[in-house]
Amino acid sequence: MAKYDLKTVAVIGLGYVGLPLAVRAKEKGYEVIGFDIDEEKIKLLKKGQNLFKKDTFLKENLLKYPFKATNNASDIAQADIHIICVPTPVDHLHHPDLGPVIGASETVATHCKKGALIVLESTVNPYVSEEVVRPIFEKHGFVVGKNIFISHCPERINPGDPKWDVTNIPRVVGSFDKKGLEMSLQFYRSIIDAEIRPMRSIREAEATKILENSFRNINIAFVNEIAMSFDALGIDVKDVIDGAATKPFAFMKHYPSCGVGGHCIPVDPHYLVERAKESGFNHGFLKYAMETNEGMPAYTVERLQDALNEKRIAMKDTVVGVLGLSYKANIDDLRESPSFKIIEHLKEHKCKVETFDPHVKRQSTMKSLEAILKKSQALILATDHKEFKDALTPALLKKYDIKAIIDGKNCLDKELFSKEKSFIYRGIGR
Ligand SMILES: NC(=O)c1ccc[n+]([C@@H]2O[C@H](COP(=O)([O-])OP(=O)(O)OC[C@H]3O[C@@H](n4cnc5c(N)ncnc54)[C@H](O)[C@@H]3O)[C@@H](O)[C@H]2O)c1
Repeated sequence: MAKYDLKTVAVIGLGYVGLPLAVRAKEKGYEVIGFDIDEEKIKLLKKGQNLFKKDTFLKENLLKYPFKATNNASDIAQADIHIICVPTPVDHLHHPDLGPVIGASETVATHCKKGALIVLESTVNPYVSEEVVRPIFEKHGFVVGKNIFISHCPERINPGDPKWDVTNIPRVVGSFDKKGLEMSLQFYRSIIDAEIRPMRSIREAEATKILENSFRNINIAFVNEIAMSFDALGIDVKDVIDGAATKPFAFMKHYPSCGVGGHCIPVDPHYLVERAKESGFNHGFLKYAMETNEGMPAYTVERLQDALNEKRIAMKDTVVGVLGLSYKANIDDLRESPSFKIIEHLKEHKCKVETFDPHVKRQSTMKSLEAILKKSQALILATDHKEFKDALTPALLKKYDIKAIIDGKNCLDKELFSKEKSFIYRGIGR
């Protein structure tokens, strides 16, 4: 494989994905320019502030490997590689919003030099590189495979994961041509200590990421359905899953919960569903899976309603404390968090809602766990933060006269909590 002269990297979009990547490239000896349209973010980065405090890699390395952070797009002009890490959300109708990818591609195409490598890391459906990104560069006079090279290397980062981070997660990469692929392989192999697998086409690289996240969405939907069935049957789904997991092959543990959140799992399958429809294929299974997961916050509220009914308490005017706003444990990421859906459903039932999240205090209505327990008659545990798991005990709930608790993450000791008769404990599928 030829060796390419790649020294300067521009990272476009400094979020959960772009920021660790910029720091890692700098650590590995590249000149790094980080560009973002968010002026506030750039100001904070210039002051050396870590925007993602739960990211262990950033905690250890952000200040050690400072890179040039800028709002000025002309600063990226000399980069040999441009890596686009901008959001790929869906709108309120679940239609893909490629606005940020288009905006970032326009910025790069306007400023990049001839011969540069452009890598899209944002999660996209198959054909986005061909139908959206490539034409932007062609419109700016570039010839793909001759004086500009375009690849797709989907990011798989799992924010807050102490084991897997930007340094060691294997990647796949696809490109329009051999040179683009070789340049990409050289770069990613130089910064990541794991397999970088070349894909036969850029389309296959795009599809790989969508398959991974659709796989997860479907498996979660399946256990959510099983959980609802087992609630009706009086079977503990968690015990059953742990039992099934003793089979050493052909079973993979997924657990049910009060909902699926984050920027990826509930969002990415919509990209595939929409694009497949344009090509004449109508996904059924995947759509049903997404609907099942989207229904879990409402189901969780129904579980509370049933528990309160048993205690002969009406939902209307009951003060319900929602514990946790972020979509997953021990982080402060609120994107697509089911907590907000749960709050909406509680309000539809005319409950009075209070919230507390130790990681998102500014958006919580209460200042502490004690305060929310004091104010609430019932609880929904929506996020399995360590602070909740450590502090909540049957005695504490009894002390504050809690009448029902729905453990939306099945993270409390069911046996222990069920023994106490002053309140009702319910999980999801247990
Ligand atoms: N967060 C994750 O866990 C994760 C994991 C794997 C893949 N992804 C994918 O990576 C992509 C980025 O996700 P993220 O979580 O880093 O998003 P993010 O919202 O944390 O960060 C994106 C950044 O891009 C900036 N931006 C938006 N438009 C821009 C433009 N035109 N030019 C320059 N900057 C722009 C935003 O200001 C923001 O700082 C998405 O496609 C996402 O699906 C995310």
